[in-house]
Amino acid sequence: MNPLNIVILAAGKGTRMYSGKTKVLHALAGKPLVQHVLDCATALQPQQLCVVYGHGGEAVPGAMQQYAARFVLQEPQLGTGHAVQQAMPHLADGGQTMVLYGDVPLIQQGTLHQMQQAGSGLVLLTVHLDNPTGYGRIVRNEQGGVLSIVEEKDASPEQREIREVNTGILLAPTNKLREWLAKLCNNNAQGEYYLTDIVCMAVQQGVAVHTVQPAHEWEIHGINSKSQLAVLERTWQQVEAARLLAHGVTLADPARIDVRGKLICGRDVEIDVGCIFEGEVRLGDNVRVGAYSVIKNSTIADGTEIAPYSHIDSSEVGANCHIGPYARLRPGTKLHNDVHIGNFVEVKNSEIAAGSKANHLSYIGDSSVGSRVNIGAGTITCNYDGANKHRTVIEDDVFIGSSTQLVAPVKVGRGATIGAGSTISRDAPEGELTLSRAKQTTVIGWKRPVKKK
Ligand code: UD1
Ligand code: MG
Repeated sequence: MNPLNIVILAAGKGTRMYSGKTKVLHALAGKPLVQHVLDCATALQPQQLCVVYGHGGEAVPGAMQQYAARFVLQEPQLGTGHAVQQAMPHLADGGQTMVLYGDVPLIQQGTLHQMQQAGSGLVLLTVHLDNPTGYGRIVRNEQGGVLSIVEEKDASPEQREIREVNTGILLAPTNKLREWLAKLCNNNAQGEYYLTDIVCMAVQQGVAVHTVQPAHEWEIHGINSKSQLAVLERTWQQVEAARLLAHGVTLADPARIDVRGKLICGRDVEIDVGCIFEGEVRLGDNVRVGAYSVIKNSTIADGTEIAPYSHIDSSEVGANCHIGPYARLRPGTKLHNDVHIGNFVEVKNSEIAAGSKANHLSYIGDSSVGSRVNIGAGTITCNYDGANKHRTVIEDDVFIGSSTQLVAPVKVGRGATIGAGSTISRDAPEGELTLSRAKQTTVIGWKRPVKKK
């Protein structure tokens, strides 16, 4: 197959973001704008992938190191044509070159495939807008053939009436593009080297110019301000919500869910309002997620209920568990089936086996907890000695009385009972009652002090 090159233009200043951060590094759906474009571009398996960056120093290359892309500095920024020129020395000859924008994050693979199918020659992605203000207009002849793109600032009043606009995304034969770019000049209203001037050159040379429309208009929306970013974020969240509904997920309100990554749901999943899903989250069949829960990079198995205001990060939750309300599962938590984690319970880097419960106000860190264990209210694993972390092992069928501190490293043997209010700093033997508690005394006749007159 002919090689495909992809050039992502990302050198624009982003003045209207009023931010110290480079425009393309602002996040949409939890991911930098340019990263959306890089993911889409990577999926097309280009031979060369080139990002043209400018403002923000090395911030863009630094943040996108994980991609097999070449980062080319454009300094100064003299227009879109000049930007693509910077990439040309790094592109493979022959084949085609696609130009994408780093601030047009939601372009979809399907639309780019359509462009690849459109034929050889120059392929422009265009769209018809009710309000075309600000965009380059597609000028056609009487037969409907594309003649040129005229920028708004260079357009005649008649040309400004044209509703078909240039999205900026295009696909061109690499060798021709190289030739055309070398001939660009900047004698126009903005004194810039316009990439769009290659259209005229193609027409003059009899190279076919095709146009393709995106599957959805939101795919071509660019970001120049926080307001546009907020609007496109909502648009994308509606798309995600519609996808979940179409898959059979019950959403209490499709306008009140945020998916910042990938949410994969089984059958009959119910999600209440205000939930945020980050990274990759998998919900099994019949999972219910209560209001205002935040779940990140985690798996929740069938039939589990997450009650409101729970936070779950990098955890694995078994089937038929009850989590929350107000529970916090931190990274490295693995809960087997039928586990109950109640309000104000924090679990970190711990495995809890089937049927165990910690229902109130506890901290379980760096622990291995067996099956059918009951952890009383206010139990704390003291896992940190100020320098190192140590493990707590609680074997099957243990009962930990309320307000117990387990000073790690420590082990509570199978079937043991720990009396309430204990500080356990040595291993507790299997099957026995262990407690550490000052003896209760009563001072007969003791009087409370009274205020002096
Ligand atoms: C450009 C197109 C216009 C189209 C519009 C769609 C040209 C001359 N005009 O307009 O026909 O309707 O996009 O939004 O191409 N960039 C660089 N280096 C530069 C200049 C721009 O990397 O020197 C990047 C920007 O970061 C941005 C993209 O190119 O991602 C488009 O630049 P922008 O200034 O937003 O577009 P216009 O020139 O207004
Ligand atoms: Mg411009």
